[in-house]
Amino acid sequence: MRILVVGSGGREHAIVWKLSQSKRVEKIFCAPGNGGIKELAEIVDIKADDIQGLLDFAKNNKIDLTVVGPETALVKGIVDIFTKEGLKIFGPSKELAILEGSKIFAKSAMQKFKVPTAGFKIFDNPLNAKKYLNEKGVPLVIKADGLAAGKGVIIPKTIEEGEKAIDAIMVEKVFGDSGKRIILEDCLEGEEASMLIFTDGKTIAPLESSQDHKRIFDNDKGPNTGGMGAYSPAPVVTKDILGYVMKNVFTPVIDGLKKEGKIYKGVLYAGLMITKNGPMVLEFNVRFGDPETQAILPRLESDLVDIMLACISGTLDKIDVKWDKRPCLSVVCASKGYPDKYEKNKEITGLEQTKKMKDVIIFHAGTKNENGRIVTIGGRVLDVTGLGKDIKSARVNAYKAVEKIRFDGIQYRKDIGARALFHKTSMTCFVK
Ligand code: AMP
Ligand code: GLY
Repeated sequence: MRILVVGSGGREHAIVWKLSQSKRVEKIFCAPGNGGIKELAEIVDIKADDIQGLLDFAKNNKIDLTVVGPETALVKGIVDIFTKEGLKIFGPSKELAILEGSKIFAKSAMQKFKVPTAGFKIFDNPLNAKKYLNEKGVPLVIKADGLAAGKGVIIPKTIEEGEKAIDAIMVEKVFGDSGKRIILEDCLEGEEASMLIFTDGKTIAPLESSQDHKRIFDNDKGPNTGGMGAYSPAPVVTKDILGYVMKNVFTPVIDGLKKEGKIYKGVLYAGLMITKNGPMVLEFNVRFGDPETQAILPRLESDLVDIMLACISGTLDKIDVKWDKRPCLSVVCASKGYPDKYEKNKEITGLEQTKKMKDVIIFHAGTKNENGRIVTIGGRVLDVTGLGKDIKSARVNAYKAVEKIRFDGIQYRKDIGARALFHKTSMTCFVK
């Protein structure tokens, strides 16, 4: 098979890496890819949201399966366009990708299907939103309705800060039309976890749980980022919690949509807050998580091509999705300045040494191969990933590899997975 993977981050490198292990795969292309993906796939110079460009490429190059990493093309309807042309593509249709494309749509679906989530109100007018903020006080969560490159959620510390955020989104339109409407949502307390499923719209196969680390600095300090590391499984997702989420989140959504004649195909990601009253959904994403995928896919034993084709053809019930029991942990190495303006074009050394290390995989994100030299071009540069018999040894393996890698201004968190080491099960002993 000839496969096209769309995207250029660590998530896409992990997807390409896993697909490349399938005996069914003859050749992989990746648009636009990165310096690490280049070792496994032919890089194609087409942007990840250039649907027409991707379609032309897929047709001209006899692509048998297209896999889309980031959300933008999915929300724009790439799956419908490819499917109409008779091309196989993994992911949900446009009318369901809106579960990520509109937080208001997602919250309404959660309400309709009785999925546990925070209380909320929708506003299309900044004055009413500010009035509500003043009535409710802080903490309150402000969310732009549409896509905002992961920056559309603000948790203000003061009313004044909240009013500024409402104005920025609705009046100054910092996220464009994505901020036409906003949600004001109750602030939940607890521990976050990510749970994903593969589905063909009928059968649901859960992926192993994981946990992201969103803040830039150790101990969850500093501004939010795209994610500074992840590990899988997340001990906070006990067997009980997994069962609860399958029963109260994924099954009602997938079955409820099916009853409306809407067949969700692909991966569905639920961002969860595990509160003392049980798990609540913070958001849905219609794609794999980044950096969660870098810690999840190394644990997948089954053939990813088989799973993806089964999701497309509606035969997921025929597939036994198997997982390696060993935990996996991935540390993001980022450029100086990230998540604000960051440095670029720094040469990365030490990668060759890490290739010889056992149970270590390096996924590239913001890198490019410049005549054999690997240089930084993005904020998040590498996902240094370790497997181990337990989370402690996965962590040791990942950090041993991190120590080999050098580039000017490298920054990374030293505490990825630390919480998992000391996890107290008492946090999760809710009864439902
Ligand atoms: P979202 O894109 O909706 O997942 O929000 C991004 C991040 O904002 C989440 O990962 C949480 O850290 C935080 N967040 C979102 N909604 C809430 C909420 N209702 N209560 C507390 N934190 C939240
Ligand atoms: N790790 C968060 C996300 O992929 O949206």
